[in-house]
Amino acid sequence: MPFADLTQSRYSCRHYEDRPVEPEKLNAILEAGRIAPSAHNNHPTRVLVCDTPALRERAAAAAGRFGRDGSVFGAPLVLMVCEKVDTAWVRTYDLMSSANIDTSIVVDQMMMQAEDLGLHTCWVCHFDPREVIDSFGLPSDLYPIHMLTVGYASDEIGDAEKREARRIPMSEFRIPSMFSE
Ligand SMILES: Cc1cc2nc3c(=O)[nH]c(=O)nc-3n(C[C@H](O)[C@H](O)[C@H](O)COP(=O)(O)O)c2cc1C
Repeated sequence: MPFADLTQSRYSCRHYEDRPVEPEKLNAILEAGRIAPSAHNNHPTRVLVCDTPALRERAAAAAGRFGRDGSVFGAPLVLMVCEKVDTAWVRTYDLMSSANIDTSIVVDQMMMQAEDLGLHTCWVCHFDPREVIDSFGLPSDLYPIHMLTVGYASDEIGDAEKREARRIPMSEFRIPSMFSE
């Protein structure tokens, strides 16, 4: 599908069919994340694949009200995207760590790859990272930043006009040229 169509069709899916994601599709999604760019090529992102009932349940428990049917939004697959602590590039001028940026690019590439494979996703950050660390027994050098739920949608894509109404217009998104020149 042309990229412009993918970005237009993507939406946050919060209801999934009880149908697993095929292993070859999971591999393609992970590969899209693996090859994502990262600041200074440091690759600080690591992904925990939650595709068993026990792992999905742990992800759901950390995601509070988003937990449903033993998973986050009932998804058959939850990708737990973590930062490998102290490996991201840090900008010397203001000590900004690129960890959130780098891990977000990975999530975005995996999200769009999933979309291209006929799957749907929801990016989830509203979860308790401490609960994830404790319940998964994550080593101290891994810090969970994002979850990405993946599966076949069982909802209908939201009304296009209503979705558009919740976005900011181009005139607001694009900074006037008098500031950018
Ligand atoms: C960084 C990030 C974190 C998000 N966290 C959550 C979340 O915790 N729970 C949720 O339901 N949606 C979450 N979303 C999805 C947004 O709510 C959603 O993208 C937004 O409402 C626009 O809707 P759309 O994705 O259908 O276009 C998150 C999205 C992003 C980019």
